[in-house]
Amino acid sequence: MRKQIAAANWKMNLTLNEASTLLDELLNTPHSLKAHQEAIFAVPAPYISLATQKLGDKMNIFVAAQNCHQKNSGAYTGEVSATMFASMGVKHIVIGHSERREYFAETDALLAEKLDAVLAIGSTPIFCCGEPLAIREAATQNEFVASQLQNSLFHLSAEQIVKVVIAYEPIWAIGTGKTATSDQAQEIHAYIRSFLATKYGQAIADQISILYGGSVKASNAVELFSNPDVDGGLVGGASLIATEFAAIINALK
Ligand code: 13P
Repeated sequence: MRKQIAAANWKMNLTLNEASTLLDELLNTPHSLKAHQEAIFAVPAPYISLATQKLGDKMNIFVAAQNCHQKNSGAYTGEVSATMFASMGVKHIVIGHSERREYFAETDALLAEKLDAVLAIGSTPIFCCGEPLAIREAATQNEFVASQLQNSLFHLSAEQIVKVVIAYEPIWAIGTGKTATSDQAQEIHAYIRSFLATKYGQAIADQISILYGGSVKASNAVELFSNPDVDGGLVGGASLIATEFAAIINALK
């Protein structure tokens, strides 16, 4: 079975003490992970040591970074490389979140470079895609997402693409409380998988985990995740509440 993943994206939230408390609360809230299930915590970069200390030895739980620079090292003041994260035990990195595309002008071409940097050191990119509201209203979301995948991912080999986790996050559903319906999520996830199959073949496409993101909560996770092509979620707001995120982990199929 494909990996089923509950990934927390804390974004730029919490102080060090609050982060520590949240991790403790989460560890004390009943949750369980089967062999094919993972929980991933994309915490702010300054809290990576804290998170790896608290979570590092737990089965199927991983700490992730929210972004990285495309180069390994050099004169790039303020930036952090995938190599640096890997040296801290962090092997999952979110790449291409819509907030980075929008506020930091990250382009498909730049994201292709970042993916290469992450894969080159054997880490796992969690590659985000997803359309804005106007595109959804024009019903051209499939074409929009296909072009994001084509421009940033399709230079990868079959061996590389199976290491990528994809997160489909419609921008109109992020932080708005407006979740895609279960049918909308399944429809575009199935489309993404079929589009990957056109390039890499069905057997490869069937191995790639595709997460849904956008107002995932404990109350809608079971229904969303029950869809055959939805392999878990990338969760913002609800990941900041231990009971919510524990319930989302428990909703994985
Ligand atoms: P929300 O769950 O707060 O809508 O955020 C989704 C997201 O952007 C996760 O990366």
